[in-house]
Amino acid sequence: MTATDVPAHEPVMPAEVISMLMPSRGGHYVDCTVGLGGHSALILNSGADALIGLDRDEDALRIAAERLAAFGDRVELVHSDYRQLATVLDDRSVSGVDGVLADLGVSSMQLDAEGRGFSFRRDEPLDMRMDRTQGPTAADLLMDVEEEDLANVIFQFGEERHSRRIARAIVQQVSVDRIETTGALAAIVRRAVPTRGYQRIDPATRTFQALRIWVNRELEGLDTFLTDASRRLLTGARLVVITFHSLEDRIVKHTFRAIAAASEAWQVLTRKPMLPGDEEVARNPRARSAKLRAIERLA
Ligand SMILES: C[S@@+](CC[C@H](N)C(=O)[O-])C[C@H]1O[C@@H](n2cnc3c(N)ncnc32)[C@H](O)[C@@H]1O
Repeated sequence: MTATDVPAHEPVMPAEVISMLMPSRGGHYVDCTVGLGGHSALILNSGADALIGLDRDEDALRIAAERLAAFGDRVELVHSDYRQLATVLDDRSVSGVDGVLADLGVSSMQLDAEGRGFSFRRDEPLDMRMDRTQGPTAADLLMDVEEEDLANVIFQFGEERHSRRIARAIVQQVSVDRIETTGALAAIVRRAVPTRGYQRIDPATRTFQALRIWVNRELEGLDTFLTDASRRLLTGARLVVITFHSLEDRIVKHTFRAIAAASEAWQVLTRKPMLPGDEEVARNPRARSAKLRAIERLA
């Protein structure tokens, strides 16, 4: 895929990200979730001297590399999980940076690209891994999950009230045969969920979200990552995090509070999260559930 094949991509809460990170001061920044490079381009265009961009998805990095090529050696892209941030910076002898951004979750490219297995709108292999070089696929994980554990995943990560029925139906199916495709999984979920009247969203939506978070262990180690990132901030620098899920937002809120409570060197800048404006949500529906929180290193 080339950059020109990618649907126009608009980064979420661009003005808020820039006002919080203040790249106009120059300096070195880290974009921990470079994705399609939207925020990275903004940060570089707004004055940052250099940026390290991480992503665990090699396809995303290829697209970002094309988008950011014009910035030359001001950008370094690294295939890495952001939970390895400390190692990535140590390997480059970078002890402190002028700002860190993490725009968590899945990208529009991952949801829309063919063959990734994130979407129930197409029938394709049930993969769902952001990093296809590592770890089991969704189809693999479903092969030996306990029904109760699966119900908890679907309930917690998908906020799906029919989680028990869905888990039972999935486990029954895998006892007979592997669920190989997104289409097969969606059909099982749709059959398991009682339908009454008009459905605002596809009944498979919440289960697919839950399985994606589970497959990619999206919440594991998020607190440690935030703490590591906050320690790499130079004086006056900020860590800005955008979440799209209440569980993620809760972890960010509590971790930021704990960091600031443990030392006066850090201050939480967002007692309440910043939200996208109505105009942005109308233009970019993906921004709908975004919440932005930020912490600053004072000393
Ligand atoms: C919401 S998108 C970021 C979009 C990006 N800000 C832009 O403007 O194009 C999230 C990205 O984070 C990546 N990602 C998710 N979890 C990650 C992790 N643990 N480590 C590194 N990258 C991760 C995903 O692969 C995806 O590309």
